[in-house]
Order: sequence, then structure tokens, then C-alpha cells
Amino acid sequence: MRSLLFVPGDSERKLEKSLGTGADALIVDLEDSVVPSAKAAARETTAAFFAGLGDRGALPPLYIRINDLTSGFTEADLDAVVPLAPQGLMLPKVRGGGDVATVAELVDGRERAAGLAPGSVSLLAIATETPQAVLRMASFEGASPRLKGLAWGGEDLATAVGASTNRDDTGAYTPPMQLARNLCLIAAAAADVQAVDNVFTDFRDPEGLEREAREAARDGFTGKMAIHPNQVETINAVFTPTEADVAHAQEVVAAFEAAPEAGVVSVDGRMLDRPHLAMAERTLARARLAGLIPASR
Ligand code: COA
Ligand code: MG
Repeated sequence: MRSLLFVPGDSERKLEKSLGTGADALIVDLEDSVVPSAKAAARETTAAFFAGLGDRGALPPLYIRINDLTSGFTEADLDAVVPLAPQGLMLPKVRGGGDVATVAELVDGRERAAGLAPGSVSLLAIATETPQAVLRMASFEGASPRLKGLAWGGEDLATAVGASTNRDDTGAYTPPMQLARNLCLIAAAAADVQAVDNVFTDFRDPEGLEREAREAARDGFTGKMAIHPNQVETINAVFTPTEADVAHAQEVVAAFEAAPEAGVVSVDGRMLDRPHLAMAERTLARARLAGLIPASR
């Protein structure tokens, strides 16, 4: 999933529009974009939206962001949304892998009761919204087989640590936010799940969005959350391997295939070893997902 577009779960209009945005995944939000007094109505609006979708096969995966375990809304959210058979749930403000495991258990029974295949509802956690989670970043590894991704966000953490801002005068994230971002990236790799970059809230600044997305892709994130439909195309483009990336990856794979006993090979006058092969294979896997090369190769 390159682009994951947030859609407020209480907005019939945005839910309807979201399907035509080209986002790789939608995250119907029951959390911060919905005020407490509207939570119940948002669950109903979301259920009605799912009910009206018909065949989901042609649609992007649909995730639902529920409210966190301290909110008092979690169980009612799960009662309402697990039967909708979402691709997965996004968990905000987790305090570590323990919260992921707790939600996974809360999903188990509801999934069974709804007649869904065990484990079919996956989880994406926002791993940096609480200081506790940042200090427990290693706990996401093995937290639950449902866990498929870790995303990072900086707004709540900035508030929690007492920061006056999360970006400096140049627009770059401040050091505490970079720490959270970087730990999330590494924790996702350790847990073998997707690393998802934060939202870029200034939706009228496409250059800023592209710059931030490029930095994320450079560092190892494979997708980015979006808040506005006009961010989707940029994000999809940045997280799709370029023709040159694909050609280079194919060259690397071919060089290793031609020398199966070799630990190192040379391509274009540069030494490449096994990590480069793994990276090339990953690029080709992403190119396949994006339909750039046939599934077989
Ligand atoms: N999903 C689907 N459609 C969206 C959308 C979204 N996230 N954001 C905007 N749109 C639609 C609008 O409804 C509008 O369509 P319309 O004119 O036919 O109604 C069109 O796209 C253009 O929107 P625009 O007028 O530029 O923005 P806005 O002022 O209506 O909305 C936000 C701005 C930020 C309120 C809106 O983008 C939004 O709600 N984003 C998601 C917020 C969220 O979920 N946050 C939680 C995670 S941080
Ligand atoms: Mg938030």
C-alpha cells in the first residue's frame, strides 16, 4: 500500500468520494476526525457505507481507524466494525505491542461471531503517538500475527512531551519527532511489517509533500498516509519504483543468477553483495504489485 487515505467516518460525502481517489487503501476514521458526541453516528454512517458497496473485490482495501484503549470507545467500535469485514483496523495511540495484542484478542471473538476467517482482520498500529510506545518500540515484534504495519505520527507525541511545535523554521521535523520516525522505521523492519510514513497536513503544498515522501521512500518507508485526495497521486508516484530502479534491480538479480556460488558480484563497476540482492528483489516485488512487470518475474 503506497497511499493510505484517511476519510472521516462520519462524512457520507467524503466516504463516497474516497472510492474514486486512486488510493491504494482507505482508512475510514472513527477517531480524531470524529468528535466524541458523533462517535455513534459515525459508526452507523460507516456501516451504511460498507453495506452499500456491493462486491468489494474491485475496491481498494478498506481499513477502519478505531479509538484507543483508554478512550472508552474501543469495544463499541469493534462491535460495530468487525462484522463489516474490513481489511484491517488502524490502532491509534497504542502504548506498545501489548495494546496491539489486547486489541487482537478483542477482535478474535468478534471475528468468529461474524463468520469471518480467523485472522482475516489485520492491524496497523500508529507506533509513535505515546511516549510509552516510543520507549517500547521493540515490543511490536511478535505482538500479534495480525499486525501488518507500523505508522508514525508526530502531533500527539509532540503534545505529550510538551513540545511547542513538531517542525522547525525550515519545515523539517524537530529532533524528538525524527527520533520517533526513525524508531518506527526500524521497529517495522524488526517486526517484518510495512513502515508507513506520517500524514503531511498541508494539503495545498504538493512540493512539500513530494519532498517528505521522497525522504521517506529513500529511508525505507514503503507508503505514506494521506488526508486529502489531491495527495494520492504524488504519494503513489513516489512509492512506485521508477523504470530505472526496475532495470537496475533486474540487472542485479541477473548478475547473481549468473554467479550462483558468488557472494559478491560487480555491476557497473560497483561491488554488490547479498543485501543488494535482497534490496533488488524487494524492488521487483513492489514493481510487480504496481503492475510494472509481470507477476512471474
Ligand atoms: N476523503 C475523501 N474526500 C475528501 C477528503 C478525504 N479525506 N478530503 C476532501 N475530500 C473531498 C471534499 O469533500 C471535496 O469534495 P466536494 O467538493 O465534492 O465535497 C473535495 O475532496 C475537495 O476538498 P477540499 O474542499 O479541498 O477540502 P475540504 O475543505 O473539504 O476538506 C479536510 C479538508 C482536511 C477537512 C479534509 O481533507 C479531510 O477531512 N481530511 C481527512 C481528515 C482526517 O481524516 N483526519 C484524520 C487523520 S489525521
Ligand atoms: Mg491523532
